[in-house]
Amino acid sequence: MSFGWHRIWKDHFVSSLNPGLTADPSVPPQRILDVAGGTGDIAFRMLKQAHIVNQNPDTHVTISDINPAMLAVGRQRAQSLLPASQQASLSFLEADATNFRKQDGTALVESSSIDLYTVAFGIRNFTDIPSALREAYRVLRPGGVFACLEFSKIASTDKNPAAALFDAAYKRWSFSAIPMIGQLVAGDRDSYQYLVESIERFPSQEEFRDMIIDAGFIVGGCGYENLTGGIAAVHKGMKPIDA
Ligand SMILES: C[S@@+](CC[C@H](N)C(=O)[O-])C[C@H]1O[C@@H](n2cnc3c(N)ncnc32)[C@H](O)[C@@H]1O
Repeated sequence: MSFGWHRIWKDHFVSSLNPGLTADPSVPPQRILDVAGGTGDIAFRMLKQAHIVNQNPDTHVTISDINPAMLAVGRQRAQSLLPASQQASLSFLEADATNFRKQDGTALVESSSIDLYTVAFGIRNFTDIPSALREAYRVLRPGGVFACLEFSKIASTDKNPAAALFDAAYKRWSFSAIPMIGQLVAGDRDSYQYLVESIERFPSQEEFRDMIIDAGFIVGGCGYENLTGGIAAVHKGMKPIDA
C-alpha cells in the first residue's frame, strides 16, 4: 500500500538512530526496547546496524508486542533470517505498551533500564497514547532516547499549492483505493478502512511533539522529521540527564 516506501522509512529510521555506534568497552552494552515490534522488522534492522555495520555485538534488542501471535511470527522469522549471534542478542516480551506491568503490579520492564525505545507504526493503534509515552519515559534511563516512526500529515498544505495537490491526491488514494485494494487482495476491507481512519485520527506532527514534551522528554529543533512530504514522520525525544 505504501509502494514500498515503508522499507525506506524503516531503513532511514534505524540508520538515523545508529544503534551500537560506541564500541568503547567501558560503555555498557546498549539495551533497545522495540515496542509494538510485531514481526521484527525494526529489531532485525537494529541488530544488523549494531552488530555488522558498527561491529558491536553486545547491543541487545527486546521486541515487545501486545499480540502473542505477532511475537510468534517474529520468533520464526528471527530463526530463519538472523545468524545465531544476532538471535542470541534478541528477546521477546508480551506486554501492553501503555502499562509494562503484570496484573500484580510487578514491572515487566524496570524503570530506567532502557537506552533506546523505538516504536514504528504502532503508537497510532494504542488506546492511551499519553500513558504509553509516560511508560516510555519511566523505562528509559536518563539520557535515553524515545524514537517513533509513524504515519503523519502532509506538511503545510495551506501555503504550498503543490503540497495541497499532493494532500488531495493522497487522501483520495487512502480513503477510496486502499480499502478497495484491501478487499480485492486480502478479502478484508475493514482492516484497511481502519488503517486509513487511524492515520487520519492520529495527531499532527506538532500535536504529537507536544505530547512527547508533556511526558517529560526534551526535543531537539522542531522535534520531528517529515518523510516523503509528511506521509510519515520520525519523532525523537530524550529523557533529561538529571531526571
Ligand atoms: C502495524 S504493526 C507494526 C509492527 C512493526 N513495528 C513494523 O513496523 O513492522 C502494529 C503492532 O502494534 C501492536 N500493538 C497494538 N497495540 C499495542 C499495545 N497497546 N502495546 C503493544 N503493542 C501493541 C500490534 O500487535 C502490532 O503488532
